[in-house]
Amino acid sequence: MRELPTGTGAAEARPSDASHRPGAHVRERDILLATKLRVPRSRPDILVRPRLLDRVEEAAARELLLVSAPAGFGKSTLLAEWARATNRPVGWVSLDSDDNDQVRLWRYLLAAVEQVHPGLQERVLPLLDTPDQPTPEAVVTAIVNELTASPSEFAVVLDDYHVIESPPLQTSIAFLLERLPPGMHVVIAGGSDPPLPLGRMRGRGQLAEVRAEDLRFTREEAVALLREIWGLELPEQSVAVLEERTEGWVTGLQLAALSLRAGSDPADLIRGFSGGHRYVLDYLTGEVLERQPADVRRFLLDTSILERLSGPLCDAVTGCSDGQQMLEGLERANLFLVALDEQRRWYRYHRLFADLLRVRLQRQEGGAERVAELHRSAAAWCVDRGLIDDAVRHAMAAGEARWAARIVEHRVDEAQGLVHGYSVAIGWGAGILAAAALLTTIMINAGRPPRRGDAARSTGEGTPRLRRHRTAIAADSQRHATGGWVRICASASV
Ligand SMILES: Nc1ncnc2c1ncn2[C@@H]1O[C@H](COP(=O)(O)OP(=O)(O)OP(=O)(O)O)[C@@H](O)[C@H]1O
Ligand SMILES: [Mg+2]
Repeated sequence: MRELPTGTGAAEARPSDASHRPGAHVRERDILLATKLRVPRSRPDILVRPRLLDRVEEAAARELLLVSAPAGFGKSTLLAEWARATNRPVGWVSLDSDDNDQVRLWRYLLAAVEQVHPGLQERVLPLLDTPDQPTPEAVVTAIVNELTASPSEFAVVLDDYHVIESPPLQTSIAFLLERLPPGMHVVIAGGSDPPLPLGRMRGRGQLAEVRAEDLRFTREEAVALLREIWGLELPEQSVAVLEERTEGWVTGLQLAALSLRAGSDPADLIRGFSGGHRYVLDYLTGEVLERQPADVRRFLLDTSILERLSGPLCDAVTGCSDGQQMLEGLERANLFLVALDEQRRWYRYHRLFADLLRVRLQRQEGGAERVAELHRSAAAWCVDRGLIDDAVRHAMAAGEARWAARIVEHRVDEAQGLVHGYSVAIGWGAGILAAAALLTTIMINAGRPPRRGDAARSTGEGTPRLRRHRTAIAADSQRHATGGWVRICASASV
């Protein structure tokens, strides 16, 4: 096992020399953030679906287009193809669970609109930087006023919107939808219907919808995809059964194609599965994995703990040195790996596939220890690159809450307000962990385990180094109080 920083002295959790290169951290973080604002890359093996592109083009003329269907139905692919094809300027945000924060979400939204309305951020961003956060209503009003002054047609896609769970955020997005400036169209894509005033908008003719029934691959599309795009010589009858069993669910078709390409017998494969998506996915993932060479299988399982992958990070986790080649090979093989930037530095697995890989990794003999070890290695790499939120997340996943606390403590200053306003810097999902970890440190330093309400009370005690940040932790913890950080603190108590 890798050696971990263990004590509480200042020498511990010290970044490697490489990480002290000026700007190195900022660059890595910036690259990662930029990937969220980019229309996902196209692939050469995508079947263009004109009926759906026309449908989206027409639907996007309404105030809100909702694209709602279960995971892996082709929502993002369709919208990305449309964004490239349409004449309308399109801004894009790929959301993730860290974005459950007003400031962070509105920053992304602004950045997306900025892509089509240059100059907007400059005028509105200062509003978000005050010590007393402006109300979301004030931010929306400022955006609407700015855009009303220079109206033009454009759309903003919020992909993976289902990760937004915070009720105040839904309220502020609803507030925006009620007051959309002329020319602005919003496209929301996700796995479930968002708690927004959809009924009202539908009634007013402001809402268009694209759903699973629309996204399902028809028989003709399945034939074209399997035969022409993926080059599988399958009898028409087999394609028909595949389409029927997967109910036109493109992820099922893709997995079946991967398995067939790797040598499965079509009749056997088709006989082997039916039932719900989860079952089909599990079955087909097993088939696909079994047919990979051992080193690829190992790589897929080990790296499944990563939310985003780069060659060097994969090397740190697997202990091998072929991470970049592996990633490029998996992308070429269409193995559910998506490149996030043009330079092919960062990738991510398709969520469904990653979930299944993680379950399999955990199920293996010694799985739990292996998972912790992989997270530890990932955390150490992230610490060195200044990816503090990822480092804390991995350290917590490895069960190393005290280490997470020290990572935060030693990086508090550098992470420019990781605690105060960390919601801006890293998102409050990870921020709560960070605050919890830091709070734990305070409590450990104070010689007793943390208890509920400690964040609010901690304003009067602790080391001088932490005093500067305590009020902010208390305020943030109160503001986002979900009990989550209390639980984490409790589990980290000594
Ligand atoms: N038209 C298409 N041609 C070929 N492959 C496709 C097509 N549409 C989707 N796929 C493939 O199917 C898989 C799922 O597609 P996509 O990621 O677009 O689904 P999604 O509905 O956005 O999923 P999630 O809900 O998980 O975000 C991907 O691997 C994608 O490459
Ligand atoms: Mg998607």
